Amino acid sequence: MPEIKLQKNKPIIMSVGGSLIVPGGGPDTEFLKKLKRFVDTQVRNGQKILIVTGGGRTARNYIEAARGVKKSIEAEDLDWLGIHATRLNGHLLRTIFREVAHPVVIKDPTRLPKRWKGSVLIGAGWKPGWSTDYVACRMAKRLGVENVINASDIDYVYTEDPRKNPKAKPLNELSWVEYRKMVGDDWHPGKSAPFDPVASRLCQRNKMNVAIVNGRDLSNIGKLISGTQFKGTILL
Ligand code: UTP
Repeated sequence: MPEIKLQKNKPIIMSVGGSLIVPGGGPDTEFLKKLKRFVDTQVRNGQKILIVTGGGRTARNYIEAARGVKKSIEAEDLDWLGIHATRLNGHLLRTIFREVAHPVVIKDPTRLPKRWKGSVLIGAGWKPGWSTDYVACRMAKRLGVENVINASDIDYVYTEDPRKNPKAKPLNELSWVEYRKMVGDDWHPGKSAPFDPVASRLCQRNKMNVAIVNGRDLSNIGKLISGTQFKGTILL
């Protein structure tokens, strides 16, 4: 099982997949309650935490709706629909974390607040052409944070897509070269990959690491944060 050492005196940066926040019909309140307990504990321990929210089913529903009505739609317009879904989820989290969170949801990683009001900062989608994974990594780069936690609904990166091949093997560690060979470079709105290829290029160039973990298992993320072995895949 892998382990990483997060830098002391730096915020934790966590990209929370929309697949966790809005997996199907609507926001998953049970997950959000668990996330709130988890984050509140981190905050009580003096930890700062930046959470970037994905768009989940809402993003995909709106992208599919637009496509269903009109055949040729600009990819950029579809991305904007996704971006607004991520922002809606960002506002949901900001609302839940009102007492401890900076009052503004941050979209532009080049304009992070110099001082956070509170210990939690919520980020969301920025511009077309990538996912919130990229936004989280740009924010990490800006803040000098080397390790990003990518929480979604998968346990690992596998040798192949496990939905297509049940014999696919889970990986503890994978280099950016290997991972990028697997996912390629191209982007399309609503793309579903363990980690965004555009963000992968940024991380490789900047020697950043990403831990892919299942966000439903928050005690596992607690292990990761405490520097002990956790279940998941490190991209490095
Ligand atoms: P995400 O792909 O980040 O949401 O954004 P997600 O649902 O969490 O994805 P998973 O669960 O990690 O797979 C949803 C969509 O919003 C647009 C893209 O079209 C993306 O697929 N988006 C998001 C952007 O175009 N730019 C951004 O900065 C963020």
